[in-house]
Amino acid sequence: VLLLIIAIALGVSLSRRGNEFKNTFMQRCEKFEGYNCTEIWDAFQKAYVDRDQCDVPPEAYDSLIEAAPLETSCNRMMFWSKTKDVAQDLAAKGDCFLTVERTLLGSVLDGLTWCGKRGSDETLTTGCPEWNECVKNPVRSFWNRVSAAFGDAACGDVTAMLNASIPTPFDPKSIFASIEVKRFKSSKVKKLDIVLVTEMNSVTNCTNKSLQDLQNMLDKGIIYSCLEVQKSQIQKCSSDPNKSCGSCW
Ligand code: APR
Repeated sequence: VLLLIIAIALGVSLSRRGNEFKNTFMQRCEKFEGYNCTEIWDAFQKAYVDRDQCDVPPEAYDSLIEAAPLETSCNRMMFWSKTKDVAQDLAAKGDCFLTVERTLLGSVLDGLTWCGKRGSDETLTTGCPEWNECVKNPVRSFWNRVSAAFGDAACGDVTAMLNASIPTPFDPKSIFASIEVKRFKSSKVKKLDIVLVTEMNSVTNCTNKSLQDLQNMLDKGIIYSCLEVQKSQIQKCSSDPNKSCGSCW
């Protein structure tokens, strides 16, 4: 009897967590006007429910992307790598920049963990694979897929924030290098502005070898620029309502 009670309690608490996840999803989704969040939730779930936790490829999210196409905004799109905090803080300031985490899908799933399991229609939020545990895990595949869509949507002057406190700011294994940059098309993207975020302990600058690789990887015709900007300057700009978008650096 005791075991049965424990089993029921565990079951109830796990399904509550699943509900909590759906509530968070729906609440975040409903902040965006003009979307059918129930339809988006259904498309989302189809990607990973009743599937092996390490066998969810990025394509599993194709119908989700179709149900909620990424918002685009030429000249405001911001990419980043190893600079999440500083990039997100700046994107939160007014309407200066649009990061994928501020699009509907990105904002709904930012910071969340989810997976399914074979033979069940549940959404689990614990016991899911870690980012590097297997390549085709539901969370990693989602970010790969949504980032591909964000890269495809890039247009006009595009900005990317990279980190000068690491030896390889343009890391070939990063999502930015391996997925997004490759999708910038010179027919749509005019210019790529790299903002290299520096700190007291910076180890590199715009002459970094990996940035040479970035330039070589760019579709011919896209203009490249690199600017070193202090982290504190960007942070100051993010929190100063009197600073306009164009005057942060
Ligand atoms: N463990 C957990 N999460 C990870 C890991 C990891 N080992 N590696 C990456 N991530 C997730 C985290 O959510 C992290 O904040 O990917 C995010 C970005 O990782 P970075 O290495 O800092 O950068 P990058 O791989 O280039 O991805 C950022 O992709 O999300 C898009 O448009 C966005 O341009 C941005 C780029």
